Amino acid sequence: MPAIYLDQAATSFPKPPCVAAAMAAYITHVGANVNRGVYGAAQQAELVTLRLRRRLCELFAFADPTHAVLTPGNTWGLNLVLGGALHPGDHCIVSGMEHNAVMRPLQRLAKQGVTFDRIPCDGEGFLDLSALETLFRPHTKLVVLAHASNVSGTLQDAAAVGRICAAHGVPFCLDAAQTAGHLPLSFQELGLAALSVPAHKGLMGPQGLGALLLAPDFARALAPYVTGGTGSASDSEDQPAYMPDKFEPGTQNLPGIYGWEAALEYLQNLGVEAVRAHDLAISRRFLAGLQTIPGVVLKGPTGPEPRVGVFSLDFPGRDNAEMAWRLETEYGILTRCGLHCAPAAHKTLGTFPRGTVRFSTGWFTTEADIDAALAAIRALTAE
Ligand SMILES: Cc1ncc(COP(=O)(O)O)c(C=O)c1O
Repeated sequence: MPAIYLDQAATSFPKPPCVAAAMAAYITHVGANVNRGVYGAAQQAELVTLRLRRRLCELFAFADPTHAVLTPGNTWGLNLVLGGALHPGDHCIVSGMEHNAVMRPLQRLAKQGVTFDRIPCDGEGFLDLSALETLFRPHTKLVVLAHASNVSGTLQDAAAVGRICAAHGVPFCLDAAQTAGHLPLSFQELGLAALSVPAHKGLMGPQGLGALLLAPDFARALAPYVTGGTGSASDSEDQPAYMPDKFEPGTQNLPGIYGWEAALEYLQNLGVEAVRAHDLAISRRFLAGLQTIPGVVLKGPTGPEPRVGVFSLDFPGRDNAEMAWRLETEYGILTRCGLHCAPAAHKTLGTFPRGTVRFSTGWFTTEADIDAALAAIRALTAE
């Protein structure tokens, strides 16, 4: 039985073949660190790292490659922003749909005297923008938002949030874990101070790597959260204040950098618009099929827009974990059940603590995959 991978929101699979090839080429033929040696291999690794930063700038309409900070992952990037920007007495605004990559650091900061409010969301997970207006306080220092929910695929109006934040003079950080690589995204147009992305989801790269794009003013004010050797300014025991070294201590994930650079070249050749068109076509097919199956309830937006290809299904009267297990063992369909590291989102959607079965799609998901998933759901619910 062939496996049908519908857990793209957790991590994308397969990767374009160029990703593994580039990682193997680095390990086998290059092997050098960056910012340390000046020999040829080190310069080559430096150039690939710069190319990666440039590609990130191109993808996200961002001006300055030195402010495209490479991180050990999206969770790290979000921690750098939250931990660096918020101090005891400060206030932060998040939404009722956040992932624990935001909520756990924020709850930890709350124990140190940071306060926060959640923007209320409706039953499909969409923000109440008029409520956001009322949440700003004189000491509000940051707004953080999941661009799209990893539970329901709900896509927020980030541009509207950006305008409201600008009117209040408060920096806006977007967690684009579920949107980067899936839809065109402009740092400028969204009015962002920070954009955090993982390499391993829609951006088609390897795990253990991400990027944090920082507006110059915000970067200047942000305290480095982790410090250490950078290969630069080695005469000083203080962290360099210049970018990107300020936020990039320690040896970088160079196999990952090679793989991600190749992945982004592949994605740029495809064009993010083409990925979005594919996601929408696949979503329409899945949503239309679901409507014909009694016994399954879609939680979250019922239309193909505004959303991404992440769908939470509830099977009333049945055990959702058992449904996910049967989908895998009897039909080869790989999903993720439970609470998806986002208890707040499940509370908003009314699916806490029961959880849902999440189906998520990507560039390599085919119409045949969707049809197979629908047939399996139909067969299981008909029993
Ligand atoms: C919305 C959202 N934010 C943050 C994260 C954390 O990303 P990572 O696990 O790549 O650090 C995820 C991962 O699924 C996510 O979906």
